[in-house]
Amino acid sequence: MDNAGRIDPWSSEQSTDYDRIIRQFGLSSVDPNSLPNPGMLHRRGIVFGHRDLDVVVGCMSVGDPFGVLTGLMPSGRMHLGHSMVIEQVRWFQDQGADVTVAVADLEALATRGTSIAEGRNTALREYVLNYAALGLDPENTNVYFQSSRPAVQRLGFSLGQRTNLSELEAIYGFNGETNLAHVQAPLVQVGDIVHPQLEEYGGLRPIVVPVGVDQDPHLRLTRDITQKTNWFNVKQRKSGGLTVALSIQDSNRSEMGLTDTGKVDMSSRKSTMSSLESSIIDLGFSDVRTNPKHGTIEIPGATNADKFRIRMKLLSTERLMGGMGLLPPCSTYHRFAIGMNGDKMSSSRPESTIFMDDDVQLMSKKVKRAISGGQATVEEHRRHGGDVSKDVSFQYLQFFFEDDDKALQEVRMEYESGRLLAGQIKQICIDRATEWLDDLAEKRSQWEDRVDEFLAPDAL
Ligand code: TRP
Repeated sequence: MDNAGRIDPWSSEQSTDYDRIIRQFGLSSVDPNSLPNPGMLHRRGIVFGHRDLDVVVGCMSVGDPFGVLTGLMPSGRMHLGHSMVIEQVRWFQDQGADVTVAVADLEALATRGTSIAEGRNTALREYVLNYAALGLDPENTNVYFQSSRPAVQRLGFSLGQRTNLSELEAIYGFNGETNLAHVQAPLVQVGDIVHPQLEEYGGLRPIVVPVGVDQDPHLRLTRDITQKTNWFNVKQRKSGGLTVALSIQDSNRSEMGLTDTGKVDMSSRKSTMSSLESSIIDLGFSDVRTNPKHGTIEIPGATNADKFRIRMKLLSTERLMGGMGLLPPCSTYHRFAIGMNGDKMSSSRPESTIFMDDDVQLMSKKVKRAISGGQATVEEHRRHGGDVSKDVSFQYLQFFFEDDDKALQEVRMEYESGRLLAGQIKQICIDRATEWLDDLAEKRSQWEDRVDEFLAPDAL
């Protein structure tokens, strides 16, 4: 976070003032009750914000296709912090999503100097193997590498046309000194996020991207860029209903009926408007008012509830006419777990986090040393009780190791009432973490020779 309140996705320090982030960047709050079978991270308010999550929830409720996409930096070791996104990916997969995983090997090459071969090794051994152990279903999971998917690179390159340095400056705080790797990487990431909507990667459908807030700048950039490519927009109609309006761009001038001299050629304008009109009538709206000159179609009978259906129809019509037909990505944001010693959790501070393959002895040592919310003396603790908001063991139970809400609540009450001592809550955390890590290690050994099952054909 810099002094203009921007988020820097390349900084290891991130603001945890989530209320401010929600307000400043216009995120919506997540209401766990609006989700079918909310997962542990939703029920506990750990997934706190979103953009357009209602779109994918709508797909879940009617069984329409949707996808979930995540990406990993193939450098360093996978730790508990990384597992939170996978927990959510698994939840979306359970609710019917297909899964795409981007290995950001080009980003790692450009921003960290990790070679492509090294990146591949790290991605498979350190990350994909743990994703398998965490329970992703290989049946509809596709892991790919940025470096070997030309469609992603092409999108990253061509969508660069829809942004400029001023926008990157506003979003990321770039200036004349900024390394170009930091310009290229976000554009490739835009390609990652958008490409599952291409016909050869599943076609037009909503894609949700669960991330930590550090990645939100990339999502804002992607949403802005996709919206700029859209040929048709849906707006609230002043006197009730919705209005569809043309968006004229350099790339669609002739379809929009503009001549080289800038005049409207009414016959080609009318032909576009009439295909548009019939696609809306197809949806069951009989009262539509088409104004070819203004490039608008008013639908007085449409309500906000029809908006998504209309947008999807317009995007598929746009595709038939030669446009890209892209939906902006949906996204969710999770809180960061605190580091064991009160710092931020980071692979560069091994004592601050538990790694997926830490052995029980090492994990116990870290938990025993972790910050606690206990009082200075047993007597004071019995009197005032422990503070769960400061207690790392409690937070790790809450974020990772105790999925039973009742059991967690029990621990909280016992601790806050002073009956449970700091050493005892640490022991509970160690016990639950031992089970969790042992189970994960066993599953890793089952998947060790089979990670290929998760790879897309272009990643083999
Ligand atoms: N930039 C992400 C990181 O630093 C990795 C990434 C690349 C990514 N492509 C993505 C994340 C697409 C989410 C979606 O971890």
